[in-house]
Amino acid sequence: MIKNKKDSFKALLESWNDLENQNFFHNYKMTNIHSVLITGANRGIGLEFVKQFIKLGSNNVNYIIASCRNPEKASELNDLAKVNENLNILKLDVKDYSKYNEFYNNLFSIVGDKGLDLLINNAGILIRSELDDITPEKMIENFEINTVTPLMLTKSLLPLLKLSAQSKKRTIVANISSKIGSIDDNTSGGRYAYRASKTALNQVTKSLSVDLKSFGIECTAIHPG
Ligand SMILES: NC(=O)c1ccc[n+]([C@@H]2O[C@H](COP(=O)([O-])OP(=O)(O)OC[C@H]3O[C@@H](n4cnc5c(N)ncnc54)[C@H](OP(=O)(O)O)[C@@H]3O)[C@@H](O)[C@H]2O)c1
Repeated sequence: MIKNKKDSFKALLESWNDLENQNFFHNYKMTNIHSVLITGANRGIGLEFVKQFIKLGSNNVNYIIASCRNPEKASELNDLAKVNENLNILKLDVKDYSKYNEFYNNLFSIVGDKGLDLLINNAGILIRSELDDITPEKMIENFEINTVTPLMLTKSLLPLLKLSAQSKKRTIVANISSKIGSIDDNTSGGRYAYRASKTALNQVTKSLSVDLKSFGIECTAIHPG
């Protein structure tokens, strides 16, 4: 169980290494990543993803797009963008579906005809809920952010993902899941809202991986812990 930021960072690195072991970034390591979008990138694991992509260098990653709800308050991201010209910050509340078209256009104006190579659906929430305090509202809120929005954002950005795939490069949708979403691993019970949202995200990811295969788009769920 991840208890603090240090553990979380360690988990991220372990997960990163796992990805490399699974050849997740196989092509990306050696060839150019044209573009990567990370949602919920102003803090936590999303921000760490941004830092890791910056470390690869702008020759290897042409466009890093970090989206967050309040760019004006994202001080660490803004500081990074001042000294890394391949880092772009875009505003996106993943729940604000009415803004998806505008977000698409803003993203297209950055990545252009080469499209989006890597979409990391990272934004998520953990609503603490045990049997004595679970409510319909908690279930629905956690489900919407963690399960519905990764699917709807992926659907909305499909034309950009297809542009990337058409260029015969590797195109990947990575949904950030959780060990807590594993049915097999659930020996301690509780955490109804969060657990269910991540289990459902795994199922969404599986369907996406089947549906997008013919377009050359891979879809995977990864978990930091
Ligand atoms: N940390 C762990 O141990 C762990 C373990 C397994 C899985 N995960 C998963 O990893 C992902 C990142 O976790 P974390 O630990 O980095 O969480 P975190 O520190 O709480 O950060 C969550 C991020 O999601 C953003 N977010 C929440 N609701 C949003 C919305 N409606 N629109 C846009 N962004 C929104 C937050 O933005 P604001 O700053 O604006 O709130 C923040 O940037 C999540 O999907 C989480 O479930 C984490």
